[in-house]
Amino acid sequence: MTLLTIENISKRYGPVQALKDISLEVQAGSRTAVVGPSGSGKTTLLRIIAGFEQADTGRVTLDGDVLADGPAAVPAHKRGIGIVSQDGALFPHLSVAENIGFGFEKGAADREKRIVDLLDLVELDRGMLARRPHQLSGGQQQRVALARALGRKPRLMLLDEPFSALDTGLRENMRKVVARVLQAAGITAVLVTHDQEEALSFADQVAVLREGRLIQAGSPQSLYLHPRDRETALFLGDAVLLPAIIRNGLADCALGRVVVEGNRQGKAEIMLRPEQIRVVADDGDRSYGGRVVEVEFGGAVCTVAVSLDDVALPPIRIKTSSVGLPSRGDLVRLDISGNAHVFER
Ligand SMILES: Nc1ncnc2c1ncn2[C@@H]1O[C@H](COP(=O)(O)OP(=O)(O)OP(=O)(O)O)[C@@H](O)[C@H]1O
Ligand SMILES: [Mg+2]
Repeated sequence: MTLLTIENISKRYGPVQALKDISLEVQAGSRTAVVGPSGSGKTTLLRIIAGFEQADTGRVTLDGDVLADGPAAVPAHKRGIGIVSQDGALFPHLSVAENIGFGFEKGAADREKRIVDLLDLVELDRGMLARRPHQLSGGQQQRVALARALGRKPRLMLLDEPFSALDTGLRENMRKVVARVLQAAGITAVLVTHDQEEALSFADQVAVLREGRLIQAGSPQSLYLHPRDRETALFLGDAVLLPAIIRNGLADCALGRVVVEGNRQGKAEIMLRPEQIRVVADDGDRSYGGRVVEVEFGGAVCTVAVSLDDVALPPIRIKTSSVGLPSRGDLVRLDISGNAHVFER
């Protein structure tokens, strides 16, 4: 079932076209990640959904209720939408307990219990209730902001880069906590992030924005393996891009003959993800291979750069395990698994 429908949303700030004709659907109970470079319109889109900003044209519908139709809009506090903004924005002069209980109706009898339950939900220690935001770490503040947003029992939760201030380990942990909390509460979520790994692992649907346009939306797998264009491919991870000639579903390229999807024929650029390529020691059958020019030891995942016999191309960088790592100067063969992708445009 579709919970949120965004139809043809456009928004201009003076000369800046922040959003251009965006349409997107979000299924009930799902998680959508909105990704894109800085300034691509991610926060603007979230603010329009939340009701903090009005679109010039287009419609926002939540669970059958029209929330915005062009500039005509239901006010933010009547939308039943929670938002954890890019800067966290706790009230600095209020305690953790007061921050979490801020949206509760005055004199609610179960106020204390609800605050404690929310604190438990985001896995914060009860000893923190009396503290002020400045006495918490960045990650703890973000959990309080999430608890405050959850306290209003939103139909939809919007998260604008909620983990951006955290280091890698804490980020991953917070991402899991948030995913679990949202799932447990059955809340649909839209998350904005710069981080492709976060988007791919958190979301059921990923939406890619660029210069105010929606370039592509779909499952993490489909976007990662079938990006619409080069920029999207590179935004979502490392990619090996090779010129090729395609005939009847087979592409001839510097790595040999690879199966491709689609009906395209003739000259094209194909894409492989580096993990599809395996570096194999030279066994004499080195018709498609090259020489190792760089080995970067990275623990569990190492990187090997191979300069192809076809000297016109830059070296190909491949992720490999540390087991059987080749050395610089070794002659190797490159084996491909799976299909190559051909860009639509
Ligand atoms: N209130 C505003 N007035 C004028 N221009 C604005 C306003 N808000 C956003 N913009 C412009 O609209 C464009 C999109 O901004 P937005 O904040 O949505 O980007 P973003 O994708 O969230 O970027 P970031 O990743 O840096 O947070 C930018 O060019 C920005 O400068
Ligand atoms: Mg932003």
